[in-house]
Amino acid sequence: MSTTSPDQDTLAQAKGKRRLFPWAIGALAALAGIHVYRRFRTDLRAAWGRIEAGGRVIQTAHGEIEYGEAGDGFPVLMIHGAGGGYDHSLLVGQSILADGYRIIAPSRFGYLRSPAPEQADPQAQADRLAGLLDHLDIERAAIAAFSAGGPTGVQFALRHPHRTLALVLVCAISCVPTPDGKPWHQQSSPVRSVAAEFVYWLGLRGAQSRLLSMLGISSEMQESWSDEERARIAQLLEAMLPFRDRSLGYRLDRSLVVSPDVPLEEIRAPTLIIHAKDDTVVDWANSRQAAARIPGAESLFFEQGGHRLFGQHKRVRAGVVAFLKQVLETQSPAMRAHVSYPQFPTGFLFGTATAAYQVEGAWDEDGKGPSIWDTFAHTPGKILTGETGDVACNTYHDPQTDIDEMARLALNAYRFSVSWPRVLPEGKGAVNAKGLDYYDRLVDALLAKGITPFVTLYHWDMPQALQDRCGGFAGRECAGYFADYAEWVAGRLGDRVMHWITINEPWEHAALGHLLGKHAPGLCNPFRYVRLAHNQLLAHGTALRAIRACRPKAQVGISLSLHTIQPRTDSVRDRRAAVIADQFMNQFFLDGVFKGRYPDPFWSRMRWLRPRVQAGDMDLISQPIDFLGLNYYSRNYARHTWYVPLLQTMIDGDLWAEGESVRDGVQYTGMGWEVYPQGIYDALFRLKNEYGNPPVYITENGAAYSDTLENGCCHDPLRQQFLEAYMHKAAQAARDGADLRGYFIWTLMDNFEWATGFSKRFGLVHVDHQTQARTVKDSGYWVRDVIRAQGKEQP
Ligand code: FCB
Repeated sequence: MSTTSPDQDTLAQAKGKRRLFPWAIGALAALAGIHVYRRFRTDLRAAWGRIEAGGRVIQTAHGEIEYGEAGDGFPVLMIHGAGGGYDHSLLVGQSILADGYRIIAPSRFGYLRSPAPEQADPQAQADRLAGLLDHLDIERAAIAAFSAGGPTGVQFALRHPHRTLALVLVCAISCVPTPDGKPWHQQSSPVRSVAAEFVYWLGLRGAQSRLLSMLGISSEMQESWSDEERARIAQLLEAMLPFRDRSLGYRLDRSLVVSPDVPLEEIRAPTLIIHAKDDTVVDWANSRQAAARIPGAESLFFEQGGHRLFGQHKRVRAGVVAFLKQVLETQSPAMRAHVSYPQFPTGFLFGTATAAYQVEGAWDEDGKGPSIWDTFAHTPGKILTGETGDVACNTYHDPQTDIDEMARLALNAYRFSVSWPRVLPEGKGAVNAKGLDYYDRLVDALLAKGITPFVTLYHWDMPQALQDRCGGFAGRECAGYFADYAEWVAGRLGDRVMHWITINEPWEHAALGHLLGKHAPGLCNPFRYVRLAHNQLLAHGTALRAIRACRPKAQVGISLSLHTIQPRTDSVRDRRAAVIADQFMNQFFLDGVFKGRYPDPFWSRMRWLRPRVQAGDMDLISQPIDFLGLNYYSRNYARHTWYVPLLQTMIDGDLWAEGESVRDGVQYTGMGWEVYPQGIYDALFRLKNEYGNPPVYITENGAAYSDTLENGCCHDPLRQQFLEAYMHKAAQAARDGADLRGYFIWTLMDNFEWATGFSKRFGLVHVDHQTQARTVKDSGYWVRDVIRAQGKEQP
């Protein structure tokens, strides 16, 4: 029986309650903790899933992930919120993303710029964080992963649940600082990562809704826009979609942190930097410094950063809106709808092409003999601008500058031509050792940078001595001299050079130089024309044989220009004219090389003009080649014309006097050539269907436009558009079965464009012909990005 009084009972009950109370609180807290922890881990799992799905995960000690390349030409909004600010900046950016505005890639270079001294390997740290930026996404859970520790923390948390739980609880109580007693952002991984992730995750809960309502950016922005602006903005945003998973920010981070040598100057995207000054961690100096280096970057300064940016959100928003509008006005081509990088087959070569006379200069140095182009350009009235190739791009004296540039642009092949009179000043006989030495050094320098050389033996600069002796290729014996020259060059370079192009564009050399008088040697002689056409092919055959004899493993081909020919009207006569024009410009050379015969009716019509085709000629000409070089630019129209003797065809197309223009909605380049991307597909398909699908390298394709320098930049949207369109078509042809193996853009740098002198700029690199200063054009950076993006996107 109980001896206790009711009072004692009440007391005992109260004591019991007191004992129970902390337990109940504890249990509730534990339940809440577990609940929070579970949600945290669920989000982490989701984040990890996304990272794995979206990124190529490289397992390293720190669980780093690889990052892809960002697309140049897209706007960059960097929010440099110093100190703790960048986290909130990230949220701002992400919320805008979440709201459908996928253009903003917040950058955290302020933070990265000042790694705490105890972080053992700042470079690895920076690399890792830079990588994370590639995976920005709108998913809340992913944000948690991206925003601080990223995969390192996620992996750690998933692998070590107990330690994570402990950390999470500690963080939940103290948040900052973390167990090491240091601010979380100075912790080393993975402690820092997990702690930071948790802090973010917690912060995110509340911040998300607040931010969304605070920004209200979509509705408010749109209210202030006109219908037209709204439509254009919608279009812009649509165009951004393919890039939503890529951050443009990382490169800035990387350049600033990892290597100050990686030039911010390379950024060509419209850039707005919001500099937010904050606590003592970093100040404005970093972002100012970065902004000063990014061409055309705009800046907005805020006295306070971090969460205090929220208080100034109207200004932030106004800045962003103004930026967006300005971006729309200067819309870069990469932003047009649904742009993506063309994808080519594995092992594809990307290069640029040049020709000796157009770039080398040093026209009479180190024992070089004159070529017909030296003579022609020195003759008053022959070159539109009165200029010569005497100095050109000075590559004879300084090839390295351009080789370094190629490497920076990720180009892995280079097509250059050897100047025959530099190697054999008289065209035959004594060799000029210094000339050969130059090409020897050039090849070594290319290989040192991992660039595959493609050597063209004849790109129109016939030794003047041979022109005088036998009319150049008009004389049959010239094919023999050419073979000897080929043997000299292959003998010297063939241990390192595997790819040889015998002759460049025999049609152009024959027609422009010997029929129309526009090029050296400036003749208008139909007899010469047909001789040149045949004898160049003969020379191709003799050289091919000579190269194979001394370098059995060499890959030898010829570069032919293919022109799309279309009848001007559908009339029978115009269609017939188109057939003749096609045989004249294209089929003659194709059939000669691949089929060992010349096409009719063209060949019959030439009966009064043509040279005697000797026994064995066609066999020599049609020896199997290892690849065909395809030079493709444009389309021509043919119409029947009674007064053109024999051909009775008039071919339109070369309207360079009119230059760059848009007519009937069609873009024409600075040469007056129609931009006709479908043609490159058709040309590749013609080779596939009619000529046995030979291995093909596009050995020239490109466009001249009137490029100018502006504040150290060269914006050339039209060239980028041109290349984008043509490369996409070529890539499509490769997917559809054409055996396409490489793409050489004409040309690396603005050079001496034959009869038009320096007035036509084809380069990916702008050249100031007074100072020889080089400036990479926007299109050059775009090409680099195409190359880097290979294998990273699904076609
Ligand atoms: C090609 C030539 C090349 C360059 C481009 C624009 O026909 O082979 O040298 O002039 O045109």
